[in-house]
Amino acid sequence: MTDGEVTALDLGRVLLHRNSTKGGRPSEFPLLGRKWDLLPGVFAPIYDVSTQLFTAWLPYPIGGSFLEIGCGAGVTAVTAALRGCARVTALDINDRAIENAIQNARRHGVAERVRVLRSNLFAEVPQGERFDCVFWNSSFIEASPNAALDALELAIFDPGYRTHAAFLNEVSAHSAPGGRIFLGFSDLGNGQLLKSLADQAHLELQTVRSFTARHPVTLTYQLLELIRT
Ligand SMILES: C[S@@+](CC[C@H](N)C(=O)[O-])C[C@H]1O[C@@H](n2cnc3c(N)ncnc32)[C@H](O)[C@@H]1O
Repeated sequence: MTDGEVTALDLGRVLLHRNSTKGGRPSEFPLLGRKWDLLPGVFAPIYDVSTQLFTAWLPYPIGGSFLEIGCGAGVTAVTAALRGCARVTALDINDRAIENAIQNARRHGVAERVRVLRSNLFAEVPQGERFDCVFWNSSFIEASPNAALDALELAIFDPGYRTHAAFLNEVSAHSAPGGRIFLGFSDLGNGQLLKSLADQAHLELQTVRSFTARHPVTLTYQLLELIRT
């Protein structure tokens, strides 16, 4: 999975430290040719390349609807609107992420097309609403099922993969006929467990794009498409 004896949990802790305000981080960052606001306590898309890669790779449904689970600072959701999605819904369980995504939607002039909701996965999605594209850059490092985590930690770790299981079980009900579902993942995640959870949810995982970063460790990021079987 990783180089030498370094585990996914170790690398997750390093990423968490960088993300914490104690590590010192900017209130604004450049990414994908734009500048973005960054609030404390929100996943910072600058300490790993996941946000950049997945945001660049996603096939946005032009004129259609896009749902982002776990929007964080809002880079992907705002980019979806800027790339031509007619309706974007950005959800996060973290209150500060909601504030941050609203700020970035205003900053880039797309607030009227980006609805931002505080929601545990799909809980606050209006009944019966379905989307042409659903995406989550997931908290792909598996933590102990009993871990009690704060909002920032939940951006990186998923205790017992419960949120992954719920995402896989619930996502099809929110996907429009012919709609596409994507998960941003990496080999720091538990790929075997993800596959078995996907099987149970009648979803097949297909790697659409991948990129291997070599520093500071060798790590492959994957944009997975979830196909209904
Ligand atoms: C890896 S971060 C990605 C953030 C952002 N999309 C980005 O790429 O910069 C994962 C995000 O999922 C959110 N998240 C974790 N569990 C969630 C849940 N149950 N419901 C909604 N969002 C959740 C976290 O708060 C975090 O913002």
